[in-house]
Amino acid sequence: MPATAAKRNMKDCDIKNITAATAGRNKIEWAAKDMPVLKLIAGRFEKEKPLAGLKVGACLHVTSETANLMITLKKGGADAALCASNPLSTQDEVAASLVKHYGVKVYAVKGEDKKTYYGHIMSVINCAPHITMDDGADVVSTVHQNWDNRKSKILGGTEETTTGVIRLKAMERDGALRYPIIAVNDALTKHMFDNRYGTGQSTLDGIIRSTNMLFAGRTVVVAGYGWCGRGVALKAHGMGAKVIVTEVDHVKALEAAMDGFYVMNMDSAARLGDLFITLTGDINVIDARHFKLMKDGAIVSNSGHFNVEINIEALKTMTRSVREVRPYVQEYVLAGGKKIHLLAEGRLINLAAADGHPASVMDMSFANQSLSAEYIAKRAGELEKRVYCVPGELDREIARLKLAAMNIKIDKLTVQQEKYLSSWQEGT
Ligand code: ADE
Repeated sequence: MPATAAKRNMKDCDIKNITAATAGRNKIEWAAKDMPVLKLIAGRFEKEKPLAGLKVGACLHVTSETANLMITLKKGGADAALCASNPLSTQDEVAASLVKHYGVKVYAVKGEDKKTYYGHIMSVINCAPHITMDDGADVVSTVHQNWDNRKSKILGGTEETTTGVIRLKAMERDGALRYPIIAVNDALTKHMFDNRYGTGQSTLDGIIRSTNMLFAGRTVVVAGYGWCGRGVALKAHGMGAKVIVTEVDHVKALEAAMDGFYVMNMDSAARLGDLFITLTGDINVIDARHFKLMKDGAIVSNSGHFNVEINIEALKTMTRSVREVRPYVQEYVLAGGKKIHLLAEGRLINLAAADGHPASVMDMSFANQSLSAEYIAKRAGELEKRVYCVPGELDREIARLKLAAMNIKIDKLTVQQEKYLSSWQEGT
């Protein structure tokens, strides 16, 4: 059923089906078990109420992990409204539970069309948030395109992902940014874990759930060797695939080569790959000429934020017929009879066909989100209209708490060692 025709169940929300709420709550509670750092923050928030009186407008993937973030913000005293940051990433049962059991306003239906997607973003903006929370910068961008000085109460915002941070830094450079943003993605406890291990595992999960393909012995082409690409290449190699990396950055390409992967341009890789995974953040990384070079039966997927990395329009113009051969697998038959399989319409495969990153890494990402929201609430007047990093002390505290939750103890510098590190006179 198209999202626009989905049942409108209650006021202050647009979700698919409220009767799925119990299944959603089970899922939310299951994720909570693996989010010990967020749980500690939620406990403190419940006592201290650092977000009392504030409204948070969030545009994030509506998953069981995000639900735990919303619950934490509510415990901190915030009123929360949530829409999806991708039309295919909503877990409808989680959306239902958030509305029914946790009093969050949710505007998200899996499979919503583009108009509904932006309508839902407007619903969140119309809740008049004091803090925005983005994954891809769609709320910031929409707010800025509909800016009204008299109406806006926004103190600041946070951004979850690399693509969003790139957009926001462009706004900062253009002098267009009207409120401060904390780039959660740039925290070490975010991108080193979520982007690398989270994307690494969940991308393969989405591909395996949708295709049931064996990675062992296959040639997998990973486009982009940022933190996400590194994770996917590592995990695909671990599953026995021959991994080819394509890059535009010389340093990253060199790193991929020294990490033991084949490195070449996409024109060469296109002829060799059985499976292609794009994670570059840029457009048309797989283009018409690459489809022409691909083997019969090649599988093409994307795990970058937007569905622009694969030129699907070009693929369509080369195509004789299209059919869905499995959920999330479309078979394109090209004019000469060659078949190309496109996964999840080129949208984030890990969230469209699987559950996204496991709770255990989202724990750190969303600890960063919660502490950044608290930081904005406390420093409201002091911050400039800039893109900020998460303060280093918060980042380090999250690492400390995560290690403690994992029952890992590490060494501490002795006084002598500290003295040695701060002196410059001593050599061999
Ligand atoms: N991004 C990637 N995985 C996610 C998840 N499980 N929840 C929210 N955002 C995500």
